[in-house]
Amino acid sequence: MEKVLVNLGAASYEIFIGENILSGVGKFIADKKFTAKALLVTQEKIFDMHGKTLTAGLDAANIDFTVATIPDSETSKNLREAEKLFTRAIEFGLDRKSVVIAFGGGVVGDLAGFVAATFLRGVNLIQIPTTLLAQVDSSVGGKTAVNHALGKNLIGAFHQPRAVFIDLNCLSTLPEREIKSGLGEVVKYGVISDEKFFAYLENNVDKIRRRDVETLAHIVKRSCELKASVVVADERESGLRRILNFGHTTAHAVEEQTHYEKFRHGEAVAIGMVAAARISHELGKTTSANVIRLENLLRRFDMMTTCAGLDADKLYRVTFRDKKAVGGVVNWVLMRDLGDVEISRDVPERVVKKIFGELCLNEDLQPKS
Ligand SMILES: NC(=O)c1ccc[n+]([C@@H]2O[C@H](COP(=O)([O-])OP(=O)(O)OC[C@H]3O[C@@H](n4cnc5c(N)ncnc54)[C@H](O)[C@@H]3O)[C@@H](O)[C@H]2O)c1
Ligand SMILES: [Zn+2]
Repeated sequence: MEKVLVNLGAASYEIFIGENILSGVGKFIADKKFTAKALLVTQEKIFDMHGKTLTAGLDAANIDFTVATIPDSETSKNLREAEKLFTRAIEFGLDRKSVVIAFGGGVVGDLAGFVAATFLRGVNLIQIPTTLLAQVDSSVGGKTAVNHALGKNLIGAFHQPRAVFIDLNCLSTLPEREIKSGLGEVVKYGVISDEKFFAYLENNVDKIRRRDVETLAHIVKRSCELKASVVVADERESGLRRILNFGHTTAHAVEEQTHYEKFRHGEAVAIGMVAAARISHELGKTTSANVIRLENLLRRFDMMTTCAGLDADKLYRVTFRDKKAVGGVVNWVLMRDLGDVEISRDVPERVVKKIFGELCLNEDLQPKS
């Protein structure tokens, strides 16, 4: 089993990565001396496929737990579902030293994390991410949220987990598109902070697509390390953490414009990264060779690199409504080199519109070399 430490002083925690590790969650809870009561939040399908070893371990450690399932949909990340979970927690007798276990993808992790952050002003949380996206991104870093009818992730809190258990076996049942969605974020880590990791991805496309466990173990571990190092430097997203939004300014606009139906999050991030890279090139900040390397890698993972058919002007307008656009100013994350990015608030409208125009055309245009 591999371990990654997220070093946040008193709030430090470990990410455990390996195969068949879920039986250890019960012992972890018992060793930490939390109250032996747990609310296990999951989705039916995930619980049926991967729940057995987890619950056997909880039983063996004498943890008294109740299983609460939420519907399999982004729309279950809301205050009504949170309230149902609060009711379950109260009825089951969870106290301030009890634990909420989030067992699922980012939807489960964000909702259960929000409940753990706010129930009794905060109880213990263990994240067990079961999608690649949740393993490399949403389970690490302490951001929790629910959606509001008027926007995604508008209500939330920072609440770090006590541990993250990443069982690579969970990835074996994940649909292909969900793997791709996670890979969007994995590629992002290479671009924002580690050229060597980017090259590793280029050299291991086939193994990754075959879901070779050793290769997946490496990319999950390295992604967690890179995310952890950014989170440790800036836990509350006041500065450096913004680099994690590389590709996300455009991705959020693409997702919103397509009503969160056409693209999985990481697929939209891939398109957004292409936008950011091309904008960087247009501004003379990076070479066309870098842009081409990024686009080629995404294509080899069978990801779309354009959003053909979308309305470029509308995409532009939506971009400036993004919740990360503080005071109407967008913090663009631009690429200087593979492994090196910068934040810029100063990207001319003309440049953004030109690149959005390219991406919304019907062809998958290659960047000019
Ligand atoms: N908190 C953060 O920092 C952060 C970061 C990124 C994304 N997010 C949030 O994460 C959410 C997206 O997460 P996601 O992409 O994991 O989506 P998801 O949770 O909806 O999971 C995707 C699908 O995969 C299924 N699934 C999960 N594990 C499985 C498994 N092992 N085998 C087979 N099927 C499985 C789910 O039931 C679902 O149908 C969004 O709500 C997003 O806002 C949060
Ligand atoms: Zn993301």
